Amino acid sequence: MDTCPRVLKNSTFGNHVNTCMTKSLTSHSASALKGHAPVPGDKSISHRALMLASCAVGESRISGLLESEDVMRTRDALSALGVTIRRRESGGWTVDGVGVGGLQTPQLPLDLGNSGTGVRLLMGLTATTPLTVTFYGDASLSRRPMGRAIEPLEKFGAHADARHGGRLPLTLKGSGAPVPIRYRTGVPSAQVKSAILLAGLNAPGTTIVEEQIPTRDHTERMLRLFGADVAAEHRDGVHRISLQGQPELSPVHLQVPGDPSSAAFPAVAALLVPGSEIVIERICVNPRRTGLYQVLADMGSDIRFVNKTVVSGETVADLKVKAAALKAVETDPATAASMIDEFPILFIAASMAEGKSIFRGLAELRVKESDRLRVMAEGLKANGVKLEEFEDGIAIEGCGGPPHGGGEVKTHLDHRIAMAFLVLGMAAEKPVSIDDGRPIATSFPGFADLMNRLGARIERGDMP
Ligand code: S3P
Repeated sequence: MDTCPRVLKNSTFGNHVNTCMTKSLTSHSASALKGHAPVPGDKSISHRALMLASCAVGESRISGLLESEDVMRTRDALSALGVTIRRRESGGWTVDGVGVGGLQTPQLPLDLGNSGTGVRLLMGLTATTPLTVTFYGDASLSRRPMGRAIEPLEKFGAHADARHGGRLPLTLKGSGAPVPIRYRTGVPSAQVKSAILLAGLNAPGTTIVEEQIPTRDHTERMLRLFGADVAAEHRDGVHRISLQGQPELSPVHLQVPGDPSSAAFPAVAALLVPGSEIVIERICVNPRRTGLYQVLADMGSDIRFVNKTVVSGETVADLKVKAAALKAVETDPATAASMIDEFPILFIAASMAEGKSIFRGLAELRVKESDRLRVMAEGLKANGVKLEEFEDGIAIEGCGGPPHGGGEVKTHLDHRIAMAFLVLGMAAEKPVSIDDGRPIATSFPGFADLMNRLGARIERGDMP
């Protein structure tokens, strides 16, 4: 029986959205958003915390873990690889690490659902241990390129059998006699860098990864937290990370900060809905993740980072956000990696700004959970926004106020597309509908409930 209220409210993070959210949702014009927004734990850090705790010797404790579908897939995969992971009654998680190289062959193929981070990092973690593991995922993940991770992992001595074009499902045969590698990544990708570092954990000697554009460094920071020897240097235009292999990792108590990529949705919503004023607490403000907030400042917003502290190797702050009139912007392609997941919501902000915004150097957006350039372009057009799509970007004619809205948007199994257009509906003249709100549970369970508590009106929709 469906017991959902028509307007979703007053639920906590967790299963509510999974079990209760119907497919389509409609977002109506919101009253001023007010209050405190508790955003769930960082997705990148949560995956890594479970993986590195699994490789420590003994019991680690993790608090603030993101309990979303993506992260729970990683938990299930690690359990299938022989690690005991428990949720404590008091909240928080306990992981009984098996030590570097201690994972076991799973009985069944591993289903990573929608999660690119889960599958690519686990490929790295299993590539230098003599295991045979089959990975698969949903329709979105099955379209995404895995060759970028397979290529360096085969240099360690692993072997992958993938579907045509390096797609899932794939079977990875980890190496029993791995060799450390030196590898320069071809695309700016923290997932590829992290897959290499995690593989390097069980290779004797020094593994070196070089990147032209530095990407998020949570893996490096967390490896140090667990006691690994990791060095990073920037020389001659190259960012170089070196890891000494086969360390004994010590268990830790780790706190996961709030996710800046999830915080981006309530933050932009508060900028766009007149009269709004919200505080988003305990967000990770690692500079490799906060590019969006710099761009929003260039557009005329006044978002303040207050109460800064360092927790488990990451800088954390509260974000104070007030509504603001925004002006157009042109982003520097070199900063794209520091905000790679935030472009969908940034395009929504640009659609309401005064003037034409230009975003280039974004070819990577075409291989995310959906082709985010095409899907955002289609959705914005359906809501009365004028734009031009390029192979590597988009130019958006800002409306200098609320766009017409009234569109029905196809989200293509992409959580960030879904949340971006629900935010547009809060500020547009007419309600905006999305065909499927369920993927939101991959990164931000409780999103609709939280936004409704702040003043939004997200309702179960009537799209066919
Ligand atoms: C992530 C890296 C990024 C990002 C993804 C999370 C990570 O992907 O888009 O959501 O946790 O390392 P790429 O490495 O493909 O850029």
